[in-house]
Amino acid sequence: MSSSSLRSQGWFGRTGKDGFIYRAWMKNQGIPDEEFRGKPVIGICNTWSELTPCNAHFRELAESVKKGVIAAGGFPVEFPVMSLGETLIKPTAMLYRNLASMDVEESIRANPIDGVILLCGCDKTTPSLVMGACSVNIPTLVVSGGPMLTGRYEGKNIGTSDIWRFNDAVRSGEMTQEQLTVSEACMCRSAGHCAVMGTASTMACMVESLGLTLPTNAAIPAADSRRKVFAQYSGMRIVEMVKEDLKLSDLLTREAFENAIKVNAAIGGSTNFVIHLLAIANRIGVNLTLEDFHTFSKDIPLLVNLQPSGSYFMEDFYYAGGLPVVMKALETILHTDLITANGKTVKENYKEAVSYNKDVISDLTDPFKTETGLAILKGNLCENGAVIKPSAASPHLMCHTGRAVVFENIEDYHKRIDDPSLDIDETSVMVLKNVGPVGYPGMPEVGNMGIPKKLLEKGLMDMVRISDGRMSGTGFGTVVLHVSPEAAKGGLLAVVQDGDLISLDVKNRSLQLLVSDEEIEKRKANWTPSYQLADRGYVHLYQKHVEQAHLGADMDFLKGSSGSKVTRDSH
Ligand code: FES
Repeated sequence: MSSSSLRSQGWFGRTGKDGFIYRAWMKNQGIPDEEFRGKPVIGICNTWSELTPCNAHFRELAESVKKGVIAAGGFPVEFPVMSLGETLIKPTAMLYRNLASMDVEESIRANPIDGVILLCGCDKTTPSLVMGACSVNIPTLVVSGGPMLTGRYEGKNIGTSDIWRFNDAVRSGEMTQEQLTVSEACMCRSAGHCAVMGTASTMACMVESLGLTLPTNAAIPAADSRRKVFAQYSGMRIVEMVKEDLKLSDLLTREAFENAIKVNAAIGGSTNFVIHLLAIANRIGVNLTLEDFHTFSKDIPLLVNLQPSGSYFMEDFYYAGGLPVVMKALETILHTDLITANGKTVKENYKEAVSYNKDVISDLTDPFKTETGLAILKGNLCENGAVIKPSAASPHLMCHTGRAVVFENIEDYHKRIDDPSLDIDETSVMVLKNVGPVGYPGMPEVGNMGIPKKLLEKGLMDMVRISDGRMSGTGFGTVVLHVSPEAAKGGLLAVVQDGDLISLDVKNRSLQLLVSDEEIEKRKANWTPSYQLADRGYVHLYQKHVEQAHLGADMDFLKGSSGSKVTRDSH
């Protein structure tokens, strides 16, 4: 691509008053004319925020990217976008994923940017940035922030999945509140995102397996100096991508999505992967369905032994060779001739990878677990599908029929879960309604609801739980999620009552409410939605337009791309 055909020349290459204005105000930052005139302008889309602690080191990371951009002859410009910190944002970061994607899309399109680096870390910061960038479709490279170092508490390795165990331990009296407070800093002892195969790590693996990063992106710890080296190389590469005009649509083919699904099954990735990948596919115009996740996951065993499906952490994953080893192990079933962001094919990128620790990354001949990381369920209780993570569930509950104990919403759950008179035992099936995209709104991560205290005290660790909500990627248990249609939109979940029999059969992909059709029809006729529609603002827009989980929970009007052209030019 010649410098005159650069998108940014529509600003900086102009003569007269317009060119003066575009350039003069850049110069007030102390930038000489030749610094940016005719050079590829690289936007660094930064989700740095002190309110997103997982991304709090991103200013430093951006400096490394800038060094690479300058070394390769580009001109870096850093810009902020809405940052979604999983731990602090209420009511749930997922409510704002689509809003952040709009910010990213419009920020890229509206500015003189030829290529963009997306700095992603905490859970939603990856899909929101990739979704927004897909709707513009200029050369784009992702740099993930990297996981935290492994936590250490009382001589043991710990990570985010232990929060659920610690919480149950406090509730059952095995751990004190003081011990819990001490464990906080022990868990989060460095910069970076959650150190298990939670959603953030899954997203970092997703973008690497889609070919949107340089190899080894996913696992390098945030605190490891090689993360900065990686960022600098990425800065160099994006300049080349602009010259080659290598856009997201060149990388995000149908086959690339199939690769990502297979890799996710092998790593035991988060169930949130499903919802985010569907949304990304819809933005770039690839026809992907929930059924594809079954088709391309079903024969893939779990190769990676990381919490919450196993016992190790992202640091161990990196030392064992990281995602390249998984890609190499799946070589015979991946599309290996696909081009990736560095201009090389999948096969070329991963041909030298070897596992340095088979206990952490195994191979297809001797997998860590034979269960796949993800299963898609069908049945009358989830007409449009539901998701379960078999690798993090209890084998004895994978085929189970029990009577429903129903919570109408999250407040009802909190009010009654530890009530000694709650009629529940280990064979019951816990059902939580109205935590879907529209009903909550925003589909929070409450699907792995805690087990009643009285059963915890008896040593019970898992029960079948069903909801239209999501689960943290760090969570585990026999938890059916993303039931679609959600209760608020009249899915059958809405009319489940205490005592109904529910049958889960993961092997046969079935989730059934065992109630007669006549009774179901009677209940449906008497049902009215109970959710509140926000009367104004973004949440009103979201509730009006958000789609169901099986479609990716994006807003209907955001699907697809508007390209990179600025349609009106007032100067
Ligand atoms: Fe940010 Fe877990 S809270 S990745």
